[in-house]
Amino acid sequence: MKKTLLSLAALTLLASGAQARTWDAIRQSGTIKIATEGAFPPFNVLKGKELTGFEVELANELAKQMGLKVQWVTQPFDNLLIGLQQDRYDFVIASHGITPQRAKAVDFTNPHYCTGGAIVAKPGGPKTAADLVGKTVAVQVGTTYLDNVRKVQGVKEVKTFPKDTDAQAALMAGRVDAWVGDKFTGLDLVKAQKGKVVAGELLFNERIGMAVKKGNASLLKELNAALAKSLSSGSYAKISGKYFNTDVRCK
Ligand code: ARG
Repeated sequence: MKKTLLSLAALTLLASGAQARTWDAIRQSGTIKIATEGAFPPFNVLKGKELTGFEVELANELAKQMGLKVQWVTQPFDNLLIGLQQDRYDFVIASHGITPQRAKAVDFTNPHYCTGGAIVAKPGGPKTAADLVGKTVAVQVGTTYLDNVRKVQGVKEVKTFPKDTDAQAALMAGRVDAWVGDKFTGLDLVKAQKGKVVAGELLFNERIGMAVKKGNASLLKELNAALAKSLSSGSYAKISGKYFNTDVRCK
């Protein structure tokens, strides 16, 4: 937690530094550099050399509409916004909840989906925020799950893991009483584990956006325009349906 707070504070300072590539520069180069984590199914997943997932397909679609080739970069979740400040890539799509704290360090697009943080536990385990009293909870480091579980009074311990899948594994291994993570990820986990875990209550809702370097208004505008076009043309609905069997756009 300390580490996350420090890195976000450092980010806010860095935000005034080097120049990000403007939309003109990106368009002239013909290629946009996009960063994600690649360990957050079903949103962004790196399987061998292949990057897939809802966000990967959506970003590829947006780039196609913008007339650009894509160069993908994968980074640990906790480093993604820092790399953006260092101009290592043009934007980040990695299920970042739009929070006031993050919005001090980066600029967010309009949300590309809406979701929430949910509790998953073994049958008989905690299902509600009140049930978490005296329990240990696994979450991915640097996430809104960590922030929100910390707000629940009486939780015995919050264990953080570099990857969300590690936090899930801790639940399956019985090293924690509950996992808190994305509600869609939770549904997939419950399905994959066939009765070994059950979904509990939704702890909070969030709007998820793509992040550009603070002040990169020209790229932000193009991304928002491409997203709006995808939402109205049906290409968004098609990708969403493929991964979730439902339309996950914000309503
Ligand atoms: N939605 C959560 C957040 O905003 C989790 C994001 C985790 N993303 C990932 N690629 N692991 O913090």
